[in-house]
Amino acid sequence: MKVGFKLLLIAVNVIVFTMLPVHAQEYQLPQYSSRDGFVPIVGRKGMVSVRETIAAKVGADILAKGGNAVDAGAAIGFALAVTYPQAGNIGGGGFMVVHMASENKTVAIDYREMSAGAAKHDLYVDEEGKVNQKLAKFSRQSSGVPGTVAGMALAVEKYGTMTLAQVIEPAYRLAYEGFPVYTQLESSLVRSKERLSADPEANKVFYKADGSNYRTGEILKQADLAVSLKAIMDEGTSAFYTGSIAEKIAADMAANDGLITMEDMAAYEVFEREPVMGTYKGYTIATMPPPSSGGVHMIQMMNMLENDDLKAKGHNSAATLHLYIESMRQAYADRSLYAGDPAFFDVPVDKLIDKDYAKEIRARIPMDRARLSSDVAPTKGLNYESPETTHYSVMDAQGNAVSNTYTLNFGFGNGIMAAGTGILLNNELDDFDHLPYEPDANGNVSGKANAQEPRKRPRSSMTPTIVFKDGTPFLVTGSPGGGTIINTVFQTVMNVIEFDMNVAAASSKPRINHQWMPDMTAIESGVSQDTLNILESMGHKFNSGRRTLGSTNSIVYRDGYFYGAHDPRSMNAATIGVN
Ligand code: GLY
Repeated sequence: MKVGFKLLLIAVNVIVFTMLPVHAQEYQLPQYSSRDGFVPIVGRKGMVSVRETIAAKVGADILAKGGNAVDAGAAIGFALAVTYPQAGNIGGGGFMVVHMASENKTVAIDYREMSAGAAKHDLYVDEEGKVNQKLAKFSRQSSGVPGTVAGMALAVEKYGTMTLAQVIEPAYRLAYEGFPVYTQLESSLVRSKERLSADPEANKVFYKADGSNYRTGEILKQADLAVSLKAIMDEGTSAFYTGSIAEKIAADMAANDGLITMEDMAAYEVFEREPVMGTYKGYTIATMPPPSSGGVHMIQMMNMLENDDLKAKGHNSAATLHLYIESMRQAYADRSLYAGDPAFFDVPVDKLIDKDYAKEIRARIPMDRARLSSDVAPTKGLNYESPETTHYSVMDAQGNAVSNTYTLNFGFGNGIMAAGTGILLNNELDDFDHLPYEPDANGNVSGKANAQEPRKRPRSSMTPTIVFKDGTPFLVTGSPGGGTIINTVFQTVMNVIEFDMNVAAASSKPRINHQWMPDMTAIESGVSQDTLNILESMGHKFNSGRRTLGSTNSIVYRDGYFYGAHDPRSMNAATIGVN
């Protein structure tokens, strides 16, 4: 009870802190580029930037007590599984790019979900040859074997200073003792009630016994999730992959037409990969390789534009946006053919990030008119990809950095909790192309790069990124947003390194998204009508129906200070400087 009250006080403090006008939080500290009109949070000894405030405080506390960025990053990952069930998870998967200063080493940890041994390419295709969307998105068959526990454990055991049990402990307490529901969680639970309350386990956790909703400030406890977290604290990852949790997940699957077995759980593999690397005007970019498509195609777009003086053309000017759209069109066309799990498909990474290839495809962009997507690559459109997911960034005083993006795919995954675990299941397998061998209206097939196969990882767009300047981490960033992630991270990085904006301004500027198909640019409000008129006269088509694109959490390190910003598009996010 005492600990619960302390946690409540901490949460209230954090909420009050993040609600203060930003200048009040940093009145004694330097600013950079205040001319940009947006002021970042400042820290001297480290920083976390996270989509949810209580988990951010967990990470900041660890940094303040001497833990490193990886300790804090893993603790945030577990804490978000409790406090941000919309996307935080131990039932999903993701990617973490880690830089360890003492070893001058940067690695990309791939803890993406993996399909079951019984999976096949037409798993969700019905007798009429159509995709059964309910099966693909809202059934246990949409779940891959979760990778988060293996990913966080690898990170902390190899690069952290604390034990796995120590980094899980705050999450365990938050699950066991509860935490005060915040505005955005209340509203997400209300919005997702039909789906979540249809599952008896999720209903029991997220709504009160009388069926009413939790209101902001009320305490949400998650007893079964606490038991699962405690089992991992006590027994390590084996509790999840071969022990009591694996048994409960496999039993739940067997009882409900799911595919994941004990053998599948035990066969899960986490990979430490070489990050995909790029350079842009003196900066070095380390980002996520396949099975994410994110890093490859972001670097491809940056390569295409490296020889253009975008700064002279102007930020979000018609000329710059034209080049952005045409680069996005090309990159996403390539992505539709070539992105997939490298264990199953030979993704031509070297070619896609080759500077000569970039020059060749840049030269195909006319400066006076938009191209048609159908002229850029003759393949099929891609699946819908959910905009949920979450990103956080951490930097510490030793020069280490963590850029982590992970997800359940949809908000709250498929909305199903494996019985007795308190763990929401992902619907990540919906990221596979479900009709990969079916010809489209033009007779084209998209091939097998991202077709579902047994124990394969679906293509992702997640783009956790670290940008280096003079060999040290300069910018750590990433975003949720499904297929739009790559473009959001690309624009955020460009805002900082091409347009020289401070990180708060870079996070705030209006964004665009073109994904090749549909042949349409989504655009946030804030781009001038004159600019849109010019672009429309060149043949560009816009869709302003979607309100916002992405939700970044970013940190810049320069001149001995950490500067951070969470996206102003999101409520209840926090950036905390350690001083
Ligand atoms: N499920 C979203 C992604 O992996 O990009």
